[in-house]
Amino acid sequence: MRGERGRLMLIDDLRGVFLFEGLSDEQIRDLIAAGDEVHFGRGDVLFQEGEAADFWWVLVRGRVELLRRTRWEESVAGVMDRPGVWAGGFRAWSGQAGYLATGRGAGPGVMLRVPAAALGERARAWFPFGVHLIEGFFQTVRNMEALSRQREALAALGTLAAGLAHEINNPASAAVLLSEVKEATDRVSGLVGTMKSYAQLDRASLQMIDVTEGIDSTLVMLGQRLQDRVTVIRDYGPGVPQIEAHPAELNQVWTNIIENAIDAMDANGTLRISTRASAGHVIIEIADTGPGMPAEVQARAFEAFYTTKDVGQGAGLGLDISRRIIVERHHGQIAIDSRPSGTILRVELPHRRENPG
Ligand SMILES: Nc1ncnc2c1ncn2[C@@H]1O[C@H](COP(=O)(O)OP(=O)(O)O)[C@@H](O)[C@H]1O
Ligand SMILES: [Mg+2]
Repeated sequence: MRGERGRLMLIDDLRGVFLFEGLSDEQIRDLIAAGDEVHFGRGDVLFQEGEAADFWWVLVRGRVELLRRTRWEESVAGVMDRPGVWAGGFRAWSGQAGYLATGRGAGPGVMLRVPAAALGERARAWFPFGVHLIEGFFQTVRNMEALSRQREALAALGTLAAGLAHEINNPASAAVLLSEVKEATDRVSGLVGTMKSYAQLDRASLQMIDVTEGIDSTLVMLGQRLQDRVTVIRDYGPGVPQIEAHPAELNQVWTNIIENAIDAMDANGTLRISTRASAGHVIIEIADTGPGMPAEVQARAFEAFYTTKDVGQGAGLGLDISRRIIVERHHGQIAIDSRPSGTILRVELPHRRENPG
C-alpha cells in the first residue's frame, strides 16, 4: 500500500492542490518522498489530540473528522474534506506543540504523513521569510494561551465565589442554612469573603496593597492541600510598605509557588513565608523543606510547559506564568535558590510599578 507505486500516484493527486501552489513538481516529489502515504478506513484514528504533533498530515482523498475532548465529552469540532487540507506538524516550528484535535477517518481515504522535522527543513530552505512569520506567530499564540489559562482559572474562581454569595443572599437557601448550625453559615460566608478577596472581584486592578493580605488569603484557599501536615511559618517583617500591584495576579503567583512547595514536600514539611523591606522594594521568600531541584530542573523551571510531574499533575505553566506576572506586569524579579534541604522562591517587587529599581 505504501510502495513506490502509491507515491507516483500521489503526485498526480497533489499537483494542483491549493496547498502546494508555487511548489515545483520536484519539490512536491521531495515532500512526498520524505513522508508516507497512509490509507485509512472509517473509525481509524490517525493522530491524537494533545500528543506531540510530530507529523504533518495532508488530506489526499476521503474525509477525516476532527474531535476535541472537553472535560465531559468528545465532540466533532471540524472535518477535513478537501484535498490539501492539513493538520499538525507544529513541531516543525515549535519544540513542544501538540495536535489540537484527534483525527479519525470518516470513511476510506488517504493522507500524506510527513515528519514535522522534514517539513521544517524544507520550509526553511524554500521560504525562510514565511518561516520567520510562522515562528513569530507561534510564540505570540503561546504567550496568549498561557495568559488566558491564568485568566480562566481566576474567572472560574470568581464564578464560584459569586455563586456562593448568591446562595447566601437568597432568603430560601439562607433560611435553610440558618436553620442549620450558625457556625456553618459563618464558615461559609468567611469562605466567600476569602474567595472574593482572593479573586479580587470588586476591586480595581492596579492599586496599593499589602502583600501579606494576598498571601494570607492564598493560604486559606489552599488550606485543604496544606492540611495539618504542612507547618506554615509566617515571618512577616516589620515596616514592610504597601506596594502598587495587581492583587489578583499576585495571588496567582503565591498560589503557583505554594502549590509547587506542597508538591515538593509531598504534603509534609515546613513552609516558611517571609517578607521584608529593602530599598525601594519588598522581598518575599517562600521556602519549603522539599528535596530541592537538580541543576537541570532549576535551569528550565521557568520554561513554559516544562514539568517533571506526571501527566495530569502539572501543566508546567506555574512558574512561567509567575515570572510573567512578576517581571513583565510588575517589573520585579523572581529567582530560585534550591539545595537538597529545600527550595526558596524569592520574589522582589518595587514599591511602584512605574519606577522599578
Ligand atoms: N518548590 C519546588 N521544589 C522542587 N521542585 C520544584 C519546586 N517548584 C518547582 N519545581 C520544579 O519546577 C517544575 C516547573 O514548575 P511549574 O512551572 O510550576 O510547573 P508544574 O508544577 O506544573 O510542573 C516542576 O515540575 C518541578 O520539577
Ligand atoms: Mg506548578
